[in-house]
Amino acid sequence: LRAFLAPKDLLGLRLLVSAGPTREYLDPVRFLSNPSSGRMGYAVAEAARDRGAEVVLVSGPTSLPDPWGVEVVRVESALEMREALLERYGWAEAVVMAAAVADYRPAETLKDKEPKAEAEKLLRLVPNPDILKELGEGKGGRVLVGFAMETAEGLERAREKLRRKNLDLIVLNWVNREGVGFGSPENEVVLLLRDGRVLELPRMTKRRVADRILDWVREFWKA
Ligand code: CTP
Ligand code: CA
Repeated sequence: LRAFLAPKDLLGLRLLVSAGPTREYLDPVRFLSNPSSGRMGYAVAEAARDRGAEVVLVSGPTSLPDPWGVEVVRVESALEMREALLERYGWAEAVVMAAAVADYRPAETLKDKEPKAEAEKLLRLVPNPDILKELGEGKGGRVLVGFAMETAEGLERAREKLRRKNLDLIVLNWVNREGVGFGSPENEVVLLLRDGRVLELPRMTKRRVADRILDWVREFWKA
């Protein structure tokens, strides 16, 4: 019913969304990751679909079912996520990068499970590529939206990421606020726009946050 009632104001928009965590394997049974549930990115994908957009969702491992009417590409590592996104970047007119990409991966991944004493020696890490920054460098006329999870000095850090990654909009998430953020159905975010505007949204469902983000995507897309 919600899909039926939604205004079709994103009709024809080709939107690429990323969601969920990435997993960086040390060996076949051990990995580094983070607590991202994927809910924010999935909410964006579903809201955009309901408003008429064509949506491809590149998702790290989550427990969420594939949304209907959305092409879902499942990946695990940051390198796989990068490849899946770059492959579809030419097609996309807008990208919402909601994935919680692991900043580091093990320098090597063992083919076989080793005893823990061996695995311990593997904790040499190398940085993952900054996918969003790469997308920002080849931005062209696309609309680019990023997320920032911060616990302190959020506004300054988010503003810096907005500039460094060449974004139109960054969504600042306070991760240490009660009842919001990782895994919860609600979120309390601040939207920072490219032109310097700062919009503090009240606490609302992730679905409503998604619709507010998409209102701005539409604005930039039409402009
Ligand atoms: N991001 C990305 N690739 C990475 C890391 C982050 O595409 N390797 C994206 C995230 O999906 C998010 C945005 O960049 O949309 C900001 O992520 P965040 O972790 O806040 O920024 P970092 O640049 O990784 O900085 P920090 O050192 O604060 O983690
Ligand atoms: Ca990071």
